[in-house]
Amino acid sequence: MRVLSPAKINLHLRVGPKQTDGFHPLVSWMVTVGLFDILDFTLDTAGRVDLSCSDPMLAVDDRNLIVRAARILQAEMTKTSGGETSRKPIPPGQRGVRIVLRKIIPMGGGLGGGSSDAATTLIALNDLWSLGLSHQRLSEIAAGLGSDVPFFLNGPSGICTGRGEIVEKIDPPRVRWVVLLLPEISMPTPIVYRQFDQMPMIRGWNDAVDWAQWRNLLAEDLLRKLQNDLEPPAFSISPILLQLKESAEMLVARPVRMSGSGSTLFTLYDISECAKRAADEIQRKLAIRAICVPLATTEEGSG
Ligand code: C5P
Repeated sequence: MRVLSPAKINLHLRVGPKQTDGFHPLVSWMVTVGLFDILDFTLDTAGRVDLSCSDPMLAVDDRNLIVRAARILQAEMTKTSGGETSRKPIPPGQRGVRIVLRKIIPMGGGLGGGSSDAATTLIALNDLWSLGLSHQRLSEIAAGLGSDVPFFLNGPSGICTGRGEIVEKIDPPRVRWVVLLLPEISMPTPIVYRQFDQMPMIRGWNDAVDWAQWRNLLAEDLLRKLQNDLEPPAFSISPILLQLKESAEMLVARPVRMSGSGSTLFTLYDISECAKRAADEIQRKLAIRAICVPLATTEEGSG
């Protein structure tokens, strides 16, 4: 079974003050983008979980969210009827899988690749092992794996609140194209949040937003509304990233935003030719990787 697992961007990300559980409440509009990891799943009735990956830098043991997701489903109790499917669930001792991951989504880039792979694994193994677990149960397991994982069960477009795990689906934006700037800088999320805690609080993180109006805006108008409260802390950790954002904004003559805790930057276009031209120009003049992909779609982009 082969599955494409999409990346996401946070079009908009507002962050509140740290809570007693160590997490920050947030409001974020997340959408999938046409950049995918590729996962192949093969049933192994001997009960082993074996992950291999094209990128030798990635841990393939219990530190990997894919393996953690599989282990949780191995232990999951199911009704003998198989819950929501008519097939008989594979008994726990025989729930095994060989997973081959082709890693395309850059790591540490705020694109949610690891979270997406985990969500894809939950859906794939629920099917492969005929577990018949409900969407509600999968969402609970997803939230335990990471704040961004539930979004990928509910894509391609959602408003995420709580610590990110509460997802309300909304229609995708009218804007169709995104240019992703992919600097080779890895931004560890906890460090960016720690820096956020040191900085003056940004007001209005919880202000109401008319999402229906926003989703109908043209690219440049939408870009002017979008905000990411993790930009100031990320830029104070990596001044090069701020320089890059400012250079890109001059070059493409429109706002450039950061996704999640960085380092990916993005800008938006209504017309694919303009987006492709901008990606080429950024790549040539700023010497960083830039790609043009569709927003909130399951199709592969033009890369
Ligand atoms: O949930 P996840 O494992 O993705 O979170 C990684 C880290 O990011 C957390 O340990 C925490 O430091 C930070 N975080 C946060 N508030 C959130 C989400 C993540 O402080 N809403």
